[in-house]
Amino acid sequence: MIFNISKIMGDIEIKGFLNIKIDAKIDVVNEIVKLKKEKNVIILAHYYQIPEIQDIADFVGDSLQLSQKAANNNADIILFAGVHFMAEIAKILSPQKKVLIPDMKAGCSLADSIPVDEFIKFKLNYPEHIVISYVNTSAEIKALSDIICTSSNAVKIVESFPKEQKIIFTPDKNLGNYINSLTGRNMVIWDGACHVHEQFSLEAILQIKKENPDAKIIAHPECKKPILLVSDFIGSTAALLKFTITDNSNKYIVATESGILHQMQKSNPNKIFIAAPPIDSTCGCNDCNFMKLNTLNKIYIALKYEKPEIILSEDLIKRAIIPIKRMLELSGK
Ligand code: 13P
Ligand code: SF4
Repeated sequence: MIFNISKIMGDIEIKGFLNIKIDAKIDVVNEIVKLKKEKNVIILAHYYQIPEIQDIADFVGDSLQLSQKAANNNADIILFAGVHFMAEIAKILSPQKKVLIPDMKAGCSLADSIPVDEFIKFKLNYPEHIVISYVNTSAEIKALSDIICTSSNAVKIVESFPKEQKIIFTPDKNLGNYINSLTGRNMVIWDGACHVHEQFSLEAILQIKKENPDAKIIAHPECKKPILLVSDFIGSTAALLKFTITDNSNKYIVATESGILHQMQKSNPNKIFIAAPPIDSTCGCNDCNFMKLNTLNKIYIALKYEKPEIILSEDLIKRAIIPIKRMLELSGK
């Protein structure tokens, strides 16, 4: 027997990843390619996925590009190799399609930093404010927001409102403060953060810079202010990648999740990329444990059994799609 599928249906019901053993003789990549064709699947992968997943994906991108692709494709099934809130967006934008995620436990500490009941109470204190939420939020938080943004369009979205418009920004305090500093706004900012980007060590980064004075420091805006202050370039994952292609330096210290280094290295085979280290680790890199839950084996199982599947109520989809569509329309302009 190829699989140990003894309790498969029961396992599926608890919604997590199915602990199915795959026969070592199986060529998982080949099987994924076959299943993709057979079932008309598109595999969307975020830059933080392991290289093997990025390499089999039909499309690799940042949150904005992935949302745009999720809204516009001819597949019957979307396999989202990323985290839960990203797969939720795909479902909201393509509710008629089946959306699969390789591991239902692939969450996000930033999205978890804004519980719905606490935010409802918080919002009551600011009746004149509109809500701009970063894409790293649950569908319920999106449904309570006026418009969504990602790190690549946040400034554009904020600046689409008149200067005097009062704004609540959720949930990332580092990104929110960074936008305030760029736009001169005074947005009320939710006290949330990503455990990966909060962990980069300024001391270690400066030490690497000392040893490599020719290297540029590039950072994601979810990093803390001291890291952003010493950075030569700040941007979303896609913007960081683009910068390494267009910039004429040869060495970069990269302060974001280490998965992005795969595309950077592929696009710039002769350049050197150094993963910025976290405060408390010996690995020398910074991995998002949620993003890294996804594996090729789990993708194979998900495609074969069409589970775990993202299920959202019609009512939630109807409410959450409004601020997401507003963002996509503004981004397209
Ligand atoms: P990007 O939108 O830049 O891809 O970032 C998503 C994310 O989760 C960053 O931690
Ligand atoms: Fe969420 Fe941080 Fe992981 Fe991005 S890196 S998915 S913000 S936990």
